[in-house]
Amino acid sequence: AADRQTLTARAKALLQQHNAVLVAHYYVDGALQDLALETGGIVSDSLEMARFGRDHAAQTLVVAGVRFMGETAKILSPEKRVLMPDLDATCSLDLGCPADDFARFCDAHPDRQVVVYANTSAAVKARADWMVTSSCALEIVSDLHAKGQKILWAPDRHLGRYIQEQTGADMLMWNGACIVHDEFKGLELELLREQHPGALVLVHPESPKSVVEQADVVGSTSALIKAVVEGKAPAYIVATDNGILHRMRQLAPGKVLVEAPTAGNSATCKSCAHCPWMAMNGLLNLVECLERGAPEIHVDEATRVQAQRCITRMLDFTA
Ligand code: 13P
Ligand code: SF4
Repeated sequence: AADRQTLTARAKALLQQHNAVLVAHYYVDGALQDLALETGGIVSDSLEMARFGRDHAAQTLVVAGVRFMGETAKILSPEKRVLMPDLDATCSLDLGCPADDFARFCDAHPDRQVVVYANTSAAVKARADWMVTSSCALEIVSDLHAKGQKILWAPDRHLGRYIQEQTGADMLMWNGACIVHDEFKGLELELLREQHPGALVLVHPESPKSVVEQADVVGSTSALIKAVVEGKAPAYIVATDNGILHRMRQLAPGKVLVEAPTAGNSATCKSCAHCPWMAMNGLLNLVECLERGAPEIHVDEATRVQAQRCITRMLDFTA
């Protein structure tokens, strides 16, 4: 605990000294989420992280999350320095959608609007017409569908299927998945619900169909937090990365929060629903990155200019 206090104090001093602001995701270590809020930064979902980083006056953004979040910040603010505690913090969706293969997929379907999830590389975004996050994907695809557009969707197959079912849009899908949400199990969730009658089921749409089907609320991390804060029920079953529980407990202290079941979390694995890449962010490497001014995110300028279009389009649409 003393170490944590010392590191927190050091991080606060360094943020101030470097005129830096911390932009954190709900899945990172609670100490980083608290630090962001205490120092004028933000903890949020990926859409609001992007908007906050773009609009903040600080010359240095420190992004506590995964690589695509740092890249998005840099794409939107090339004049700012974007630091991350660990550049190896990636995402299975990004890894599963290499830019070359994706370009071939797009080339084969030139009649479709290319809609990509935020969880992709800058090079993949450079090929897209639209970027979306889980908080605006439904609205944007609905709008495109209403305008008669056919869609090429990448990379998350579960989110894609959910949006397809909700909107009826013509969507050709890439076959990617999030290794964390893909593990939630529908049958085990049914059994858990019997043990918690009256609990509301909150599900991130990267989860499989059998889990989404049982949801009372499907939404982005921010939407799921809002559902706990505003919900009338005393208990909530949460099907998303368990890093989110930190903020939920702070904002809704009286409510019972139960982690949704994965294949392993009942017996041996205490925190299966936790992203190994989000977990690479800690107080120590945050302090080190502020001290060293590295690692820093760089995006090749031609790619950046191309990728910026689809992100700005999303931010304008949701403004
Ligand atoms: P949100 O945009 O809902 O925060 O999701 C980001 C993410 O990586 C989910 O796994
Ligand atoms: Fe990617 Fe899943 Fe981790 Fe989110 S939780 S960063 S989607 S691997």
